[in-house]
Amino acid sequence: MHVQSKRIAITGAAGNIAYQAIFRIAAGEFLGSQQPVALNLIDIHPAMPSLGGTAMELEDCAFPLLRDVVLSDDLEVGFAEVDYVFMFGARPRGKGMERSDLLQENGKIFGPQGQAINQVASRDVRVLVIGNPANTNALIAAHHAPDLEPSQFSAMTRLDHERARSQLAMQTGNPVAEVTRMILWGNHSPQMHPDISYCSVAGTPARELVEADWYRDTFIPMIQQRGARVIEARGASSAASAANAAILHMRDWVLGTPANDWTSMSVWSDGTYGVAEDLIFSFPCRCENSAHQIVGDLELDDFGRERLKENEAELLAERDAVRELLS
Ligand code: NAD
Ligand code: LMR
Repeated sequence: MHVQSKRIAITGAAGNIAYQAIFRIAAGEFLGSQQPVALNLIDIHPAMPSLGGTAMELEDCAFPLLRDVVLSDDLEVGFAEVDYVFMFGARPRGKGMERSDLLQENGKIFGPQGQAINQVASRDVRVLVIGNPANTNALIAAHHAPDLEPSQFSAMTRLDHERARSQLAMQTGNPVAEVTRMILWGNHSPQMHPDISYCSVAGTPARELVEADWYRDTFIPMIQQRGARVIEARGASSAASAANAAILHMRDWVLGTPANDWTSMSVWSDGTYGVAEDLIFSFPCRCENSAHQIVGDLELDDFGRERLKENEAELLAERDAVRELLS
């Protein structure tokens, strides 16, 4: 039976994260071992020679599922009829910077890209923004795509979600696969709120397995600052783990979350949990057939509610700071 290829655009394709993602996507780790793929690799003009080297390596891998590779610095070529978009293309922060310091410089990238996606991508396209500050960049892109639904745009907090699962598994001495129903609320920033209130470890509520002091004073700051610690250690921001999280985010969105679990995705806020609308905010989400649904019926304690408010305030301030980039 002939299966039509799915076309996947990757921006910042000559950058570090993309180099960790492209080969895994071409090997079938995003859409599975039966789905042929075509890759549209997008970067700025000076990066084209380097991207040519990536294209040569893709040929040299002879991936059975890879049917076509397009290299382009032209957004209308790069996004033409694409089904899925990974937006890595943006500057990373260096040591001592906050992600929000990148807002003005990186924010400018996402208006034209949102506009081009609006014009030429598949009407069912699903977009993931990784470039920082990811939540507000995704908001800018969504605002420039009035013919698409805002729910077709998302930003990545899945890396933080996996960081949290992994640390909890290590603290409790369990395999990470036993950690379910983690929640990462809010913004991909130091305010993010990793919440174990509904988390289960090998069937036991996580809160019964760890001390409240460890949760508040060690775990939460560790997850909030993990990106900065990786930058200090590597001299460069996370790349392989970011690529991994991007593939997991898109795979779950398209193919579905496991029956007894959810994931964390930064998606368009529709007012659930009292979060202001028109923000890209990280919520627990269940996915099926390329549609996500916010898990909207969880009770929050005062501590959790305060953390959500802090994240909302930060994202509202980011949105105000880029007002002129939103239209
Ligand atoms: P990098 O500098 O290695 O690569 C960035 C690439 O983007 C470069 O090839 C650059 O030429 C390209 N680029 C710049 N402007 C572009 C444009 N207008 N169109 C297309 N391409 C463009 O950076 P990296 O390490 O790959 O990181 C990329 C981004 O991802 C950074 O903003 C980083 O902070 C962010 N990041 C986010 C997360 C997350 O969890 N959300 C995790 C890790 C990194
Ligand atoms: C991360 O969380 O690793 C990325 O957002 C990179 C960074 O700037 O921290």
